[in-house]
Amino acid sequence: MTHAEEHEGTRRDFLYYATAGAGTVATGAAAWTLINQMNPSADVQALSSIMVDISGVETGTQLVVKWLGKPVFIRRRTQEEIDAGRAVSLDELIDKGAENKNKPGEAATDENRTLDEAGEWLVQIGVCTHLGCVPIGDGAGDFGGWFCPCHGSHYDTAGRIRRGPAPRNLEIPVASFVDDATLKLG
Ligand code: FES
Repeated sequence: MTHAEEHEGTRRDFLYYATAGAGTVATGAAAWTLINQMNPSADVQALSSIMVDISGVETGTQLVVKWLGKPVFIRRRTQEEIDAGRAVSLDELIDKGAENKNKPGEAATDENRTLDEAGEWLVQIGVCTHLGCVPIGDGAGDFGGWFCPCHGSHYDTAGRIRRGPAPRNLEIPVASFVDDATLKLG
């Protein structure tokens, strides 16, 4: 059941209680209060984890979805982007931590940043680690990844900060494949 359907169901319940007749309004109100109290945990659960259909994401493009109030960049990298990311040594990096919630404490190698072993899928929170602007994608910046126009931060094809004031690599959220066409965030 989707989040919207859950809401729809809840609303139907409420409408049922509200229209069940004057005699049951008090009961309806009590029931609604109870439902309402139960809702936050259901809502939070639904919001904290979402499914994303990635079947239409072509190689070399990026899907942006909003999750927990932030943009999430889901990029399907080209072989050139993968090769460029893997050619970078840790010594060249400003932030040597992977910043990957799926691999806490790991080094920022290209392999530790992607979701699959082949390195095709890169999923990142689309928020610049300097002051929170949304970086431009599609090969922007001097390192072929993302560029934040606010103060000039350049991220490479693995979303690692390479030049500019941003202190950390783009964050990688908890994410996993449910199947070939579905990505789960959270
Ligand atoms: S917010 Fe991105 S460089 Fe300042």
